[in-house]
Amino acid sequence: MSEPPAHGRVAALVPAAGRGERLGPGAPKALRELAGTPMLVHAVKALAASPMVDLVVVAAPVQSVEEVRSLLIDPEFGAEVAVVAGGESRSESVARALIGLPEDVDIVLVHDAARPLVPVEVVTAVASAVREGHPAVIPVVPVVDTIKSIDDDGRILGTVPRAKLRATQTPQGFDRDVLQRAHAEVDEAVTDDAGMVESLGITVHAVDGHEESFKVTRPLDVVLAESVIAKRRSR
Ligand code: CTP
Ligand code: MG
Repeated sequence: MSEPPAHGRVAALVPAAGRGERLGPGAPKALRELAGTPMLVHAVKALAASPMVDLVVVAAPVQSVEEVRSLLIDPEFGAEVAVVAGGESRSESVARALIGLPEDVDIVLVHDAARPLVPVEVVTAVASAVREGHPAVIPVVPVVDTIKSIDDDGRILGTVPRAKLRATQTPQGFDRDVLQRAHAEVDEAVTDDAGMVESLGITVHAVDGHEESFKVTRPLDVVLAESVIAKRRSR
């Protein structure tokens, strides 16, 4: 009888080096608190809670690397945590977290620190779909608004059929070599890692995201995030 194929470890990279300009003045967004705990700590805990995740690598704001390290020393996380300095753009932060990833990692998830409330089921579903053989996997949700395209003069050019649209969340999951190739070869401006992989002509697979995985972007999102945390605590 043949042995099941041996496989490597799963690393979750967390770009967390953004300023949070749309949230308004204050500390870097990942360090701002939701219900008394920094957003980044919520996000790292959510990733580490998945039995699929072995290692978390955070790309922190350059001036806050030590502060982030001290926030993330918690033996109860259930995954190894490393902190590196992030870059000038999200994709540069991801690229920096990719450097120095241990050899035995074969699956990489990329998760925004700004999505602190991702349910563990979503993390596990994304990683599992990569383990099952999809080179790139993203969690998506239906779009609720009707989306129009518009020109520079404010004229509506058309309505995009909504049934075929999905909003993309994170974590996005990749075969390690595919993500590294995308970062090495693609330099056009894309706002997510899956977009880079699409540019390589590789098919990206969708799984169900979750409404609580929304990105904390503007002040109202903080109100919503704290309500979700309160609802979870009351259960
Ligand atoms: N990010 C990063 N490095 C950057 C810019 C962004 O690691 N140079 C990260 C953010 O910390 C965040 C994720 O990418 O976790 C998604 O970015 P976004 O929501 O745009 O966060 P910010 O860039 O911090 O917010 P803003 O654009 O409002 O300044
Ligand atoms: Mg940004």
